[in-house]
Amino acid sequence: MTNTNAPGERPWLKTDLSVEDRVGLLLDQMTLAEKVGQTHQSANIDPEADADLIERGGIGSSLYASGATGGNERDGGVLSDAINAAQRHAVEGSRLGIPLLFARDVIHGHRTVYPIPLAMAATWDEELALACARMAANEAVVDGVAWTFAPMLDISEDPRWGRVAESLGESPVLAGRLGAAMVKGFQGEDPSAATSLGACAKHFVGYGLAAGGRDYDTVSVGQNTLRNLHLRPFKSVVDAGVMSVMAAFIDIDGVPMHAHRHLLREVLKDEWGFKGVVVGDWGGVGQLVDQGVATDLRDAASQAIHAGLDMDMCSGAYAAHLEELVQSGEVGMGMVDDAVRRILRMKLSLGLFERPYVEAPTAAFIPAPTPASRELARDAAASSLVLLSNNGILPLAADPGRLLLTGPFLDEGDALLGTWVLDGRGEDVASPGAAFRARLGDQLMVDDGRFSDVGISMVRHADVTVALVGEHRSRSGEDRCISTLDLPAGQLDVLREIAGLGKPLVVVVFSGRPLDLGPVLELADAVLLAWHPGTESGPAIADALFGDVAPRGRLPMTFPRSVGHLPWSSHQRPAGRPIPAASDPVHGRYLDALTQPVLPFGFGLSYTTFEYSPLTLSSTEMAPDGTIEVSVMVTNTGSRAGREIVQLYLRDLVSDVTRPLQELADWALLDLEPGASAVARFPVTPAQLGYYDRTMTYRIDPGDAEVMVGPDVSHGQVARIAVTT
Ligand code: NOJ
Repeated sequence: MTNTNAPGERPWLKTDLSVEDRVGLLLDQMTLAEKVGQTHQSANIDPEADADLIERGGIGSSLYASGATGGNERDGGVLSDAINAAQRHAVEGSRLGIPLLFARDVIHGHRTVYPIPLAMAATWDEELALACARMAANEAVVDGVAWTFAPMLDISEDPRWGRVAESLGESPVLAGRLGAAMVKGFQGEDPSAATSLGACAKHFVGYGLAAGGRDYDTVSVGQNTLRNLHLRPFKSVVDAGVMSVMAAFIDIDGVPMHAHRHLLREVLKDEWGFKGVVVGDWGGVGQLVDQGVATDLRDAASQAIHAGLDMDMCSGAYAAHLEELVQSGEVGMGMVDDAVRRILRMKLSLGLFERPYVEAPTAAFIPAPTPASRELARDAAASSLVLLSNNGILPLAADPGRLLLTGPFLDEGDALLGTWVLDGRGEDVASPGAAFRARLGDQLMVDDGRFSDVGISMVRHADVTVALVGEHRSRSGEDRCISTLDLPAGQLDVLREIAGLGKPLVVVVFSGRPLDLGPVLELADAVLLAWHPGTESGPAIADALFGDVAPRGRLPMTFPRSVGHLPWSSHQRPAGRPIPAASDPVHGRYLDALTQPVLPFGFGLSYTTFEYSPLTLSSTEMAPDGTIEVSVMVTNTGSRAGREIVQLYLRDLVSDVTRPLQELADWALLDLEPGASAVARFPVTPAQLGYYDRTMTYRIDPGDAEVMVGPDVSHGQVARIAVTT
């Protein structure tokens, strides 16, 4: 069947009409079967085998992934000619010519890979997050991708959970702002432009609380914590115009998110006014049966559409049963229309009706790492590195003597790309070994990278040893949880042996999560946390160790003392009996260990020092609709340039429910030359102290509050302010 695309016969193609009018015109023409087709998403559509399905309008979207846990495995890549072939069946072969929406997880880059999202959060840099997302979109559209499933906004407080690597950390404000920047980067100024991708905020909501840090496990959380913490970054990106939201695999207090009518329909859609698409996660609708709340796939489909879930990813429940559920009267047509309206709105907003096909790569597109994308990747990687300790050994001298580079990541590229890399290639990565060889030539000593006895003996002959340790990318991400926070087996033993030789030791740690680095901090002269830095891993690390760029990242998650200390986060609420300070020699909540984390949220060193002037407040009183300014002058008192990330924390002193002792409210990035000063200015409004109370009503309390400004959550100057009535 061949159809005409003439706007005369298809009035919804008229671009001078509004998107809403076009959606309405199209919806009026659709049969129930065609409507249900739009709600069906399947994986890896085949233009030949699925031609009939596409032409009868039986599918609305296809995602390209190797499988249900696609973040861990590579696939064959996206073939743009296959996308075009499938699209041709939809656009030219189906009755109404509705284009398919092609999706792929473009999480932290496409062909060029930027640091993992947790590392991106360590940059605290919204412009950089936006730029990386924009560049990723530029590359992905060349392959025919129109929709990505990012940013991931799960508040992450449990490093056992492998997916913390994909997250933007534990702060709702940091995650919300960086997430909004990513949405703007992916979707661009004009989402209908050829270089824009639809973004998707996931996983709605509370996934980071999976019991025991075990992926997909159940969640028990009070409504208040959900409202005051976990929902907040999602609200930020909804306000920023994100086109879609993905439901989480978990249940909350027994109600699976794929059937959670209150959170999906009443909060997200009705209360927040979200007009985009709510998509299920892979097989999530079908899993309602495994979760034991649905008798079969038909029941699951009914529960999910009632809850407000618009598109069924890969379970086939909607495709198989929605039509009959409407015919039998169990599901109202209005519910299906609402879902389809949202899907069509997204397709029209993305310009798919005007540009359904993958355009031939042009000079405007970037199909492989280019000098510009590499430069961005290097900047992002450099900005994400967090210097955890340094006794003065860093930065290394340009001529450091005989430098031994050792450890299992010596010549690794692929391992440093991190989880969720579907299109990045190991061979594009400049490894640490390559970057150090380029700098040091013959002065560089390398062993076999296996931490063998031979390698250890080489330490004796080296002036300084740089050990590359930590997690391979396959140790983090979806379904990659761990029950201790130790370095992988054997690595700490080797570090102990090396340190025992008494020679200078710098340790670079790769990881997708906070690890228990207490013992490493004790052994090494300096520790640099590199996360999984991406395509420009080696050069970024060499730049930092040799001081071309001062490390400037700050921790976006607390580094707890041990697994036994979990959960722990920076937004602790006050208990009736407060936890004694770390300096208290006698008391602690644990008998056998200090309670406080090894490294606090917001922590990170530089190669210079910063001095803070006393805090200045424009007023100590703030009217309900007023603003005050909190400011501090910061001076670089060292001899090298550096970045200070000045952090503002707030505390409501008396509230209807317990509120965090400190909650990150704002921050400023100050790049300072030696001797230079700059003022960090923070406008503070009562809304930053707002919260949901015992009755789940949003409120702002009149009365006292505290502001704290400092370099991390554990250090800062505190001042008292008051919200007046
Ligand atoms: C399952 C993951 O939970 C989700 O994050 C991802 O976007 C989908 N699979 C699609 O690949």
